[in-house]
Amino acid sequence: MQFKFASLLAFTLGAIQVATQQVGQYDTETHPSLPIQTCTKSGCTTVQTKIVLDSNWRWTHKVGDYKNCYDGNKWDTATCSSPEACAKNCAVEGVNYSGTYGITASGNSLSLKFVTKHQYGTNVGSRVYLMANDDKYYMFKLLNKEFTFDVDVSKLPCGLNGALYFIQMDEDGGKARFPNNKAGAKYGTGYCDAQCPHDMKWINGEANLLDWKPSDLDANSGVGRYGTCCDEMDIWEANSMATAYTPHSCSTTKQERCSGTQCGDNGPDRYLGVCDKDGCDFNSYRMGDTGFYGKGKKVNTNQKMTVVTQFITDNGQASGTLKEIRRIYKQNGQVIQNSRVQVAGVPDYDSITTEYCDAAKAAFNDNPHFQTLGGMRKMGQSLNAGHVLALSIWDDYYASMQWLDSAYPLDRDPSEPGIKRGECERGAGDPKKVEANSPDATVTFSNIKVGDLNTTY
Ligand SMILES: *[C@@H]1O[C@H](CO)[C@@H](O)[C@H](O)[C@H]1NC(C)=O
Repeated sequence: MQFKFASLLAFTLGAIQVATQQVGQYDTETHPSLPIQTCTKSGCTTVQTKIVLDSNWRWTHKVGDYKNCYDGNKWDTATCSSPEACAKNCAVEGVNYSGTYGITASGNSLSLKFVTKHQYGTNVGSRVYLMANDDKYYMFKLLNKEFTFDVDVSKLPCGLNGALYFIQMDEDGGKARFPNNKAGAKYGTGYCDAQCPHDMKWINGEANLLDWKPSDLDANSGVGRYGTCCDEMDIWEANSMATAYTPHSCSTTKQERCSGTQCGDNGPDRYLGVCDKDGCDFNSYRMGDTGFYGKGKKVNTNQKMTVVTQFITDNGQASGTLKEIRRIYKQNGQVIQNSRVQVAGVPDYDSITTEYCDAAKAAFNDNPHFQTLGGMRKMGQSLNAGHVLALSIWDDYYASMQWLDSAYPLDRDPSEPGIKRGECERGAGDPKKVEANSPDATVTFSNIKVGDLNTTY
C-alpha cells in the first residue's frame, strides 16, 4: 500500500478530479442509497435509488498498475499517446464517498461538503447522479409532472452553488454508444450540459487530451479540444443569497460531443453554438423582488425549505407541448407562491413561459438564444426523451458565481436592469477565497419526490 500512497500523493495536491474508461480493481464501488418517492393523488411510493460520483473526480491509473494516467492537471503522454490508447490503457476506481469526497447519504437525505481533507490530499466540490440500479441512471420524464425536494442552503455563502438539475445524459453513461467506455453509469460517465464543458477528461469513450490546456488557476482541471453538450433544466442553482431556475435548450437530441464553433465557447462564439448558454432564468432578486429569497426573507434561507417545480403542458397530458415551468415553495408548513416580476417593461409574471422569456430578454437586452434554439418547445421535447438528475456543490473559476448572486457582467453598471442578481459583493465568490474561508460549506438535499401535479407537497 505504500506504493499506492506515494502514487496518489503525486496527483492530489488539490482536488482529486480524474476519470477513465476501463474499470479498476483496487477499490470497490459501493453506491450510497438515496431513495426517492413517486406520487399520485392516491399517495407516494418509495423507489430504492442510489447515487454515483461523476467519473471526472475519480482516480485514474494505468490498468493493473498504480501509475497515474492523469496527474494534477496533465495527462501522462506515455500511457496516453492518443485518445483511444488512453481509454484502453487507463482504469477508473471505486471511491470512498464520505472519507474522500465529503458525500454522505442517510435515509432520504444527501449532504455534499465543499472541501474535504483526506489521507491523500484535498477534494473540492462534487457532482453525483441518481441511479435506478448499479448500472443505469434513473430516467425522469417530467412533462405534466412536478419535481419536489427539500434543501438546506443555510451553510452556502456567496460564491458557492448547491445545484440540483436535469440533463439529457444516456441512461447507461454512453457505454452502448461508445464501446471504449467500459465503466459506464456505474462509474458516473457520460456527463453533458448546455455549457458544453471542455473540462471533462473523457467524452464519447475517448480521453479529451487533444489540445489539453491545464488551468492556470485550478491545479486539478484543464480543458480539452472537445466539449460535451445536451439540453439542461436547472431546477435549482442556489446559495443562501440567491437562487435561479433555468431551462437551457440545445439543437442536439441527445448527448453530443462538440468541437470548434459548435461548442459556443465564451467570446465571439457564445451565441453560435449548439446550446443556449444563458438560458431563460427566473431569479427572484434579478426579476425585481429583492425581499423574496434570502436570510430572514419571505423564503428564509436560514431554514430548510421545500421546492416544487411543475412542468405544465398545453393539453394537460404528458404528450403535450411544454408551456410553463412553475415554482412553488413551502416552508414551516406554509405554501409560498413564487415571486412576481417587478421590472419595467415586463408584465408581473410569476413563472417561466415563452412570453416571460421574450419580455425578460428584451427588457435586459439579453440575446434570446434560448428561443432561437427552440425555447420551451425544445426543452419539453428533451424532457420527454428522459433526463438524469444531477446534484452538485461547486465554486466558479470562470465568473465567481456572480451571474447567480452578485452584479454581472462586470463591465456593466449594477443599476442597469437585470445586472444585479443578489446581494453578494463583486469578488466575494472568488474561488480561492471561498475555498480558504468556507471549507465546511455544505448543501443538504432530502425528501426527493416526483409525481402528478399537486401530489408531492
Ligand atoms: C472511508 O474513509 C474514512 C475516513 O478516512 C474511513 O474511516 C473509512 O474506513 C473509509 N471507508 C472505507 C470503506 O475504506
